[in-house]
Amino acid sequence: MYTADYHIENLVYGVLVGAEIAKGTITAMDTRAAERSPGILQVITHLNPVDVPGYASEKEAMEGAASGNPLHILATPEIHFYDQPIALVIADTYERALDAAKKIKTQYDREAHKTSVKAAEAEGRLPAGERMKDYVRGVADGYKNAEVIVDEEYYHPIDVHSPMELANTIAHWTATDKLHIYTKTQGVEDTQRVFSTLFKIPAENVTVDAEYVGGAFGMGLRRWPYELITIAAARKIGRPLKVVLSREQMFTNVGHRPETKQRIAFGATKEGKLVGITHQATANTSPYYDFTEATLMMTQYMYACPNVTTRYRIVPLNISNPIWMRGPGEATGSFALESGLDELAYKLKIDPIQLRLINYADQDPVKNVPWTSKFLKECYEMGAEKIGWKNRKMEPRQNREGDWLVGYGMGTGTFGSSRAPASIQAILNPAGELYLACSVNDMGPGTATMMATIAVEQLGVQQENITVKIGNTNLPAGPTQGGSVVATSVGAAVYDVCLAVKEKLIDLAKAQGHVLTLENVTFQGNMLQLTGENAKTINVADLLSNANLRHIDLTINSKGPEVKGSKYSYSVHFIKVKVHALTGQIKIDHAVACADGGTIISPKTAASQMIGGAVGGIGMALFEDLVFDHRFGKAITNTLADYHVPVNADIPHVDALFVDKKDPVSNAMGTKGIGEIALIGVAPAVANAIFNATGKRVRSLPITPEKLI
Ligand code: MOS
Repeated sequence: MYTADYHIENLVYGVLVGAEIAKGTITAMDTRAAERSPGILQVITHLNPVDVPGYASEKEAMEGAASGNPLHILATPEIHFYDQPIALVIADTYERALDAAKKIKTQYDREAHKTSVKAAEAEGRLPAGERMKDYVRGVADGYKNAEVIVDEEYYHPIDVHSPMELANTIAHWTATDKLHIYTKTQGVEDTQRVFSTLFKIPAENVTVDAEYVGGAFGMGLRRWPYELITIAAARKIGRPLKVVLSREQMFTNVGHRPETKQRIAFGATKEGKLVGITHQATANTSPYYDFTEATLMMTQYMYACPNVTTRYRIVPLNISNPIWMRGPGEATGSFALESGLDELAYKLKIDPIQLRLINYADQDPVKNVPWTSKFLKECYEMGAEKIGWKNRKMEPRQNREGDWLVGYGMGTGTFGSSRAPASIQAILNPAGELYLACSVNDMGPGTATMMATIAVEQLGVQQENITVKIGNTNLPAGPTQGGSVVATSVGAAVYDVCLAVKEKLIDLAKAQGHVLTLENVTFQGNMLQLTGENAKTINVADLLSNANLRHIDLTINSKGPEVKGSKYSYSVHFIKVKVHALTGQIKIDHAVACADGGTIISPKTAASQMIGGAVGGIGMALFEDLVFDHRFGKAITNTLADYHVPVNADIPHVDALFVDKKDPVSNAMGTKGIGEIALIGVAPAVANAIFNATGKRVRSLPITPEKLI
């Protein structure tokens, strides 16, 4: 079940109407025809606004929407972006609401809008926050003093998450101060916190259900105005209300990877030793919130380089709020960093992998502390072997197969690997059946599979005897599914709760006269197998019944140790591409994704994540482009027909390879994350392969045939 699949008795349906200007004020609205339409319960606009107690003061709204969306939806006549919701039409059926929504007539006082970073770059300003300040290590702009310099600009347009499942919310007030919501979110706990704050009710009065998410890639990490209006309107009309965004609204109302212009300059010795890097980025935010991301962080710590300068700026545009999108920041930054390094490699006539090895950072150059683990060299090696790097020709345009130019490229990815606290409940019954519960949800990576896999390993229970409950605020609190933290955090909690179950079984056995320790027992679900001199079998059922217990039921909270070093995951992406010499048609021929994600728990679901990330990165490199008609400030590639994402025919065989070595500090299993590194570094690998094939350096994504001919 996905959230919009739920049905609640008495359910009614809402359709949002969007503004037809990008900036200005509503001067008049005629909702009479809509209100007279069959089945209409109510039309809500700024003229009859809903009550959101958290709006009482701007400060509270900001905090309540730590969601980062302090847009007071339907509260004022002001318009900040095209398709900003200006009305919610509620009817007894979806079709009737949709029909009535088309009858609303609105007049505006139009003001000049801005929808292009390229055009407004000069207005870029420094965002607040320590992390966002200009960074200088060594000499500012120290690249200028080097023998060999590469200094170029890179650009990519707005990319949109475009998951198959549309954004949706069902809001059900079961009492005046009790709310039950089913909503597309990557974190039920966070959603509970935001809406309990905004509606000023205790957190425990808000139940959030979101077991499975039909793809999100980051768009479910924050709460959106459409969710807020659904909840507020449901209370106003006293009926459970469902709102599902249209595909067009998915492009305008629930975030995007911001349009970013970057300049990167490298200075190096003739031998390839980096002397300096300067990396600048300007990205869009919305008019009502300063969205920022870690675009330049990778440049600060990725390579051993004495002089590094980074400068990050934002420009408010009349577009809704951006949001993190898989590999947020690093996916953008690595496009410039890893393409620019490739340019330097050609200029120096050094193999691009060799250039990276020359400048390999053996410890974190920002904090001057060791890495907890870094098996990046292994990634370079295994990937080069798999893609057939030895067949690459250093000189571009020298590798031909008939009309096709063949090229090889690579790019590195990295992302912080952190561990969040997670609570888990485990119940083991006499038959050796295990129940595991955590509020974390699953947007596709196979969270429940990962949890079950650890329990199989630890307790010897059969996979089919495990029930996993996830995605509900009534379960023990888990982390948001984001930032590549889930396997490391929830996985560790499963490991810890299994250990607690084992210890409990051993205590019971000891109390019943058996002689055993954790070391000489093999757990087999419904029995304990003792090895050594007292070799024998003990049934879990006997242990429980002798102790008058129906089952073992434990809930634990698991937290990571304090980490002294810098903990990152790494990836290297290799691409073999064929470009048609006459038409510029681009075919990805082979993709290899290598990851140092620590220990890999579930090889099949982990490989699927890496393949999915490669597909996303190929989309970023070759297809994705939210095109605006800047005259109107309107996104015009706002359907999946016009906003291109890769289809099966665009994607070749993708090999996913793992170093699969333990990180010594993350948790007992030694896992790190792979969700983000699956995508980070893919786009530059594609661009670098295209350069190797054609000799054309395309610094503006997406790389389309007309840029090559
Ligand atoms: Mo990811 S951008 O943390 O969903």
